Amino acid sequence: MKHYLQFKDFSADEYRYLFARAALIKHKFKTYEKHHTLLDRTLAMIFEKASTRTRVSFEAGMYQMGGSVVHLTTGDSQLGRSEPIEDSAKVISRMTDIVMIRTFEQTKIERFAAHSRVPVINGLTNEFHPCQVLADIFTFIEHRGSIAGKTVAWVGDGNNMANTWLQAADLLGFTVHVSTPSGYEVDQSIAGVRAQKSYRVFSDPLQACEGADLVTTDVWTSMGYEAENATRMQAFASWRVTAGMMAAAAPGALFMHCLPAHRGEEVDADVIDGPQSVVWDEAENRLHVQKALMEYLLLGQLE
Ligand code: CP
Repeated sequence: MKHYLQFKDFSADEYRYLFARAALIKHKFKTYEKHHTLLDRTLAMIFEKASTRTRVSFEAGMYQMGGSVVHLTTGDSQLGRSEPIEDSAKVISRMTDIVMIRTFEQTKIERFAAHSRVPVINGLTNEFHPCQVLADIFTFIEHRGSIAGKTVAWVGDGNNMANTWLQAADLLGFTVHVSTPSGYEVDQSIAGVRAQKSYRVFSDPLQACEGADLVTTDVWTSMGYEAENATRMQAFASWRVTAGMMAAAAPGALFMHCLPAHRGEEVDADVIDGPQSVVWDEAENRLHVQKALMEYLLLGQLE
């Protein structure tokens, strides 16, 4: 049994399979062809933080594959009343086939997985957001082909998305140019990358974008850090993705944002709503890659 707790949990070969499978599943979805490979399977979704995309994509995806879903939050379950996470894992995993969790510390999802009888998927923690980067790379491949050898510019917070991009670059053979304000750098020990050759650090966000094939960012204040909002607004003021940064990127560079976005903060409206932006494909692709992911965790490689 495998879990998907961070991007580096899978090999490059497994990602090759998942991207191909997601393309097939997407094609069947677009042509209204049934894909009921998870008939009668049940997904438990546990949310300790808010969500739109993650909830809709996992819930719709499981139903579209013939399964069903149980939705739990901290407020409406015993998780919010201090039942030990290990006990919750033992109970929930005896009644369902697969579990998706969005929570705070990575250690919480690791503790859950250690006591689960079924696969566990990270739907976002403070440290990682592997399902999002899975969708992002699938989106890049759809628009531009293989990401191997390409350059991704990360502009903004050294957060869970940045950590996950670093792991992906390490595994799939591309480079990430990281530019964050001082004090918000990526912590290589948290990202857990094997070597520094897959990323370069830039103090100037414009320089980080020069020649990049993809420019991407995220909100300045991630969920769980709201108390730092005013300080972050000042610290991040120069880390807004602008049309000038996109012009410095490679010809045909894409723009991505995992959403939700704040126009006028981390990205200008003419970038996110402009011709280089693929944010709506990126959001939709959460559905297709996560269907491939759940199927792989439950059934292994098919065909
Ligand atoms: N990108 C993302 O995870 O979106 P939600 O927070 O809406 O799930």
